[in-house]
Amino acid sequence: MSTPTEWYRDQYLVSTSPSLLQPAAVSEAFKSDSMYWAKPIGEALVKKMLEKSLCFGLYELPSSTLSIAGPQAPAQSVDLPLLIVFLGKSGPRQIGLARIITDEVTFAYLTDVYVLEEFQKKGLGTWLIECVEVHVMKWPDLRQIMLIASHKNKFYEDKLGVKPFPQGVDNGPSIFTRKGLGSVFLD
Ligand SMILES: CC(C)(COP(=O)(O)OP(=O)(O)OC[C@H]1O[C@@H](n2cnc3c(N)ncnc32)[C@H](O)[C@@H]1OP(=O)(O)O)[C@@H](O)C(=O)NCCC(=O)NCCS
Repeated sequence: MSTPTEWYRDQYLVSTSPSLLQPAAVSEAFKSDSMYWAKPIGEALVKKMLEKSLCFGLYELPSSTLSIAGPQAPAQSVDLPLLIVFLGKSGPRQIGLARIITDEVTFAYLTDVYVLEEFQKKGLGTWLIECVEVHVMKWPDLRQIMLIASHKNKFYEDKLGVKPFPQGVDNGPSIFTRKGLGSVFLD
């Protein structure tokens, strides 16, 4: 994985640093009804899943860290994991996630996007997706970003600029899928 990138806004942080991810928090979020696409899986499997993905963690910063980082600190200005160790305080709280399954060269599959309910409707979900877009769209050999969402859901069209894939067009490409044991969707 490439060097972690960080974005700051007010008391919040989006970071691609694997060391900040909190599998217990993500595992807990997977139990929520609003994560309707995910079956709750144990923390050990969540940890493995996160380790093998490019994750954009969304964090609420403790005020001690914020006062040093600054509310509008530019990307990569602070080594946050080191700062937390230095301060000896509890770290940032993970309040959201956008997970990308990727080779970091040609293909990116976006999934498991959430912001905890108590933090929704503050623009954080939009910001999280903007961070994903800024990061991924600069890969010079990227062929596709892909995701699965309801055709009624305009969130990703609005925020990420994705378009539904035109299926069944004569001589055009199609996407083929097969459900696995973990699928929560019925045929
Ligand atoms: C979708 C989600 C990440 C948005 O996070 P948020 O921090 O509330 O987002 P914002 O405050 O930036 O609002 C973003 C926009 O998304 C819309 N929105 C909120 N929840 C939404 C949802 N579940 N589906 C689609 N759009 C949604 C808002 O109305 C808002 O629209 P606007 O920009 O036109 O005003 C958050 O609602 C969430 O985690 N929902 C539960 C999990 C989920 O549905 N994930 C996405 C799977 S498709």
